[in-house]
Amino acid sequence: MKATIIGTGSYIPEYILTNQELSTMVETDDEWIVTRTGISERRIQKSGDVADMAVNAALKALDNAGINSEDIDLIIAATSTPDYLFPNCSSIIQKNTGAINAVCFDISAACSGFIMALSAAKAYIEAGMYKKVLIVCSEKMSGITDWKDRSTCILFGDGAGACVVESSEQEGVKSVDLHNEGMLGEVLTAKRNENIVMNGQEVFKFAVKKVPQSILQTLEAANLTTEDIDWYLFHQANARITATIAKRLKVPDEKIPMNVDKCGNTSAASVAILLDEVNRKGMLKKGDKLMLAGFGSGLTWGTMAIEWGI
Ligand code: ACO
Repeated sequence: MKATIIGTGSYIPEYILTNQELSTMVETDDEWIVTRTGISERRIQKSGDVADMAVNAALKALDNAGINSEDIDLIIAATSTPDYLFPNCSSIIQKNTGAINAVCFDISAACSGFIMALSAAKAYIEAGMYKKVLIVCSEKMSGITDWKDRSTCILFGDGAGACVVESSEQEGVKSVDLHNEGMLGEVLTAKRNENIVMNGQEVFKFAVKKVPQSILQTLEAANLTTEDIDWYLFHQANARITATIAKRLKVPDEKIPMNVDKCGNTSAASVAILLDEVNRKGMLKKGDKLMLAGFGSGLTWGTMAIEWGI
């Protein structure tokens, strides 16, 4: 059997933290932030748990897929900001969605979390172990942000995205390319009970070099070209990173939906939230080819080719 995505969901908190408000907290301004990152505002979860956002997104994905929570046989949650060391976030999602028949585990892969979770779902389904997998990525980045550090606090936001993957005779989730370079891990860290520490320029250089290489590998494995892809859904780290990757691959802007301006960087959740947005806007047609790309702390990165609606 092969794997295909049959439903998506997302949740972003109500509170909007604008660049204007940030400029009252640290020495910065809207023009600097927008020019360097493309971010105008981000959402902040003022109260509640990471798992609350996850459950909200998960229920929407189940509804969108048209299936009951009891039908799910595996839940994979991706988060770097879990509420508990244990139980894992996926077990809390199980409890609060009623997915009583599911096995649950979490993945920690920072901003590559969604790609890693989706590739795990693909592997389990293709091995015949599970048939319906719920993937949920939820992050409360505001909880590990140093609100006095103007070089990082402008970047991040909170939110959750989810999707349901099902076994199918059609190959919806096609080729996958995953990488890791733990040797470079110190450029982006958040130690337990401490905040994010980042070397922004090194992260930038890593992303614009490695992601295009990975995309080309994924395309080759799927027997596709850059032109065959209808939509490129990049991790929403920063509009300048995305623009540089697009330029290197000669991909036109119209094929690159973005929401970093409104959501900031929601780490593992970002691609999942964006996928749900384009799905709900009706932008995805049956047979459309999608390229998903995640990259971040680890360093870790991965890309994946998807055929939609099959
Ligand atoms: N407002 C005003 N000035 C600022 C701000 C701010 N918010 N932040 C930094 N500055 C200042 C610095 O202090 C520095 O001042 P100085 O020249 O007087 O020393 C100056 O701006 C330039 O600082 P740089 O760090 O060199 O700025 P740079 O052009 O590299 O932009 C940025 C910083 C936006 C973080 C950039 O490096 C970047 O986009 N990096 C990618 C990192 C990223 O996206 N991380 C997300 C998490 S990882 C992931 O998701 C993949």
